[in-house]
Amino acid sequence: MHHFEYRNGELHCEEVAVKAIAKAVGTPFYLYSHATLKRHYEAFEGAFEGLDRMVCFSAKANSSLAVLALFARLGSGLDIVSGGELYRGLKAGFAPSRIVYSGVGKTAEEIDYALETGIFMLNIESPEELELVNQRAKQMGVRAPIAVRVNPDVDPQTHPYISTGLKKNKFGMDRETAITVYKSAHAMENIAIKGIDCHIGSQITTAAPFRDALLRLKGLIEELAAQDIPIEVVDVGGGLGITYQDEAPPEPQEYGRAIREGLAGIDARVVLEPGRVIVGNAGVLVTRALYRKAGEAKDFIVVDAGMNDLLRPSLYDAFHDVRPVDESLAASRVMADVVGPICETGDFLSRDRLVPDVRQDHLLAVMSAGAYGFTMSSNYCSRRRAAEVMVQGDRFEVVRRRQTYDDLVAGETIPAFMED
Ligand code: LLP
Repeated sequence: MHHFEYRNGELHCEEVAVKAIAKAVGTPFYLYSHATLKRHYEAFEGAFEGLDRMVCFSAKANSSLAVLALFARLGSGLDIVSGGELYRGLKAGFAPSRIVYSGVGKTAEEIDYALETGIFMLNIESPEELELVNQRAKQMGVRAPIAVRVNPDVDPQTHPYISTGLKKNKFGMDRETAITVYKSAHAMENIAIKGIDCHIGSQITTAAPFRDALLRLKGLIEELAAQDIPIEVVDVGGGLGITYQDEAPPEPQEYGRAIREGLAGIDARVVLEPGRVIVGNAGVLVTRALYRKAGEAKDFIVVDAGMNDLLRPSLYDAFHDVRPVDESLAASRVMADVVGPICETGDFLSRDRLVPDVRQDHLLAVMSAGAYGFTMSSNYCSRRRAAEVMVQGDRFEVVRRRQTYDDLVAGETIPAFMED
């Protein structure tokens, strides 16, 4: 359920006409619905009622300050993967005690930053990382709270680029290595073992892999308990999928049941790291048709947003529905590719499908773009990053202005030696 609907023949975000925003802000822009973000967060969080839980929104899905600030105000924690996300999280108002940090490549500088900030826990992904964290914590005179990320070797049946819990993936550790790491951690003065962690992938559309992964963790938790290593926190990661086209992923309630089943018999606090399921369908990318072009083999609709704005179609061949802002254009469909201005054949937003038969200047909404949309955007081809707008009821506000040409060269210099 989201708040992007036609009213009086025009696409609205909550009570605001998308066309009015485009007029005020220009295109392309990302558009988020405050009511949808809030509703999705609350539905997800509510699915775990009765459990000792902490939902940590995954910043990588959407790390815009306005979005993060909303979740911080709703009581969410934050899942981060870099020093930059920690910085954003703190700016947005998250309490350090509600921040968890995963990632295979944390640098010494990032570890120091996390320890100085006093985050809830670092999810350790390799034996060498544990050594480094212990060393840095010692230097700082603190004990680093950690969990060990376990790779449960479960197939999440999703796109290979975003499955993370298989033996062949770079994430976490196999069971044997994890046990060895827990034993060393137990003996380290500057490490406090807090939990166990796994994350098996993203855009997962069935509940079973989540349950299977937890059942595997459970065996490990029991083994650790037998060795006097208690686990207080089980971080189950994120990964719940959404409907882009015709997928039918479990509702949060059903997902909640799978997690409860997987955790049955374990007395621990549960941490959840949802990203896409909360923000994916709460945002769209609004773009304008620049040209209509008849190719020899097919037609093209050239728009002013490209793969630098929304990379998912190019990178994963991901489906994003393309809707006209003017509803009267929805009925007539044409076989055409919706392509951006970038000099690559891979620069498309939709390919080989029926799309609205739009002409120059018509506006299109690329749906389900709230997750991994802006966060994966780039300045490729020196294109300025798009603006972001948030709507609440009948109000809207630009929450990130469109970049300027000056922004594009900020921080760059022409070396003095070239003047010699
Ligand atoms: N926790 C960890 C440790 C993760 O690596 C991720 C996502 C999440 C939580 C959140 O997963 P979610 O609930 O959003 O599925 N760029 C790709 C998705 C990459 C996901 C990376 N990790 C895409 O556009 O589909």
